[in-house]
Amino acid sequence: MQNIPSDYVAPTDLLAGKIILVTGAGDGIGRAAALAYAKHGATLVLLGRTVEKLEAVYDEIEAAGYPQAAIFPLDLKTITEQECESLRDALEREFGALDGLLHNAGILGERRPIESATYPSWTEVMQVNVNAQFLLTQSLLPLLQAAPTASIIFTSSGVGRTGRAFWGAYAVSKFATEGLMQVLADELENISKVRVNSLNPGATNTAMRRTAYPGEKPSTNPSPKDIMPAYLYLMGKDSIGITGKAYNAQPL
Ligand SMILES: NC(=O)c1ccc[n+]([C@@H]2O[C@H](COP(=O)([O-])OP(=O)(O)OC[C@H]3O[C@@H](n4cnc5c(N)ncnc54)[C@H](OP(=O)(O)O)[C@@H]3O)[C@@H](O)[C@H]2O)c1
Repeated sequence: MQNIPSDYVAPTDLLAGKIILVTGAGDGIGRAAALAYAKHGATLVLLGRTVEKLEAVYDEIEAAGYPQAAIFPLDLKTITEQECESLRDALEREFGALDGLLHNAGILGERRPIESATYPSWTEVMQVNVNAQFLLTQSLLPLLQAAPTASIIFTSSGVGRTGRAFWGAYAVSKFATEGLMQVLADELENISKVRVNSLNPGATNTAMRRTAYPGEKPSTNPSPKDIMPAYLYLMGKDSIGITGKAYNAQPL
């Protein structure tokens, strides 16, 4: 398991001229990452399911004077290959290449024992957290390979590295995410400049964390903004040459 250098500070122009797509960009960690990437010079493609939330992030980026973003509403629960093709074609027409892809969107699903887990919830979590990542990655890979040095970040979790009771499909989906990251990184290592890593944000004060731990005082955990150095490090040039690694955004 890797940690980013503890004193890492991203240069202000780290992502100048880069085109970066963030899934689940309307809320929580994805929103913070989109804003941090834009602040460091990137043009953002904001993907998510709630248009109003994406528009709010778009407006925030515009008001701050960062590069103008693009919005691509998409529900990962029902995502199709055709939608992925449309996304790829639109990005190819507009930008020609993609420098970064942050797979961030995810759902928690049920918190119950495997013995009583329900199949509809199980398949929904696998669809959003794993299958959609596969479809998006596969269709966007040509655009990532067209960039000089692209970065793909998959979002993991502590329960995707060591299994834990009652975390069910969510935990299993994060193990699958780590697997997808490793297989893809190994396939691309010697033939492509695309690097592929996973990042576990660690406990972070978002809607998902508050749902998973209703008894916890939310302010015990860092805000999404606080964990952005790791997101910037893995997206920017300081991580060129690193691939196939599992990172933590917070020291464990
Ligand atoms: N927070 C933590 O402590 C923690 C710890 C470990 C790992 N993680 C991981 O970090 C990532 C971000 O989590 P978070 O805490 O920021 O969660 P969050 O606040 O619940 O945000 C999740 C984001 O994913 C989007 N999303 C969910 N289902 C979607 C769908 N079907 N189609 C498109 N977008 C969808 C949500 O969109 P809407 O807002 O429109 O619903 C939202 O923007 C997740 O992968 C999570 O598993 C979080």
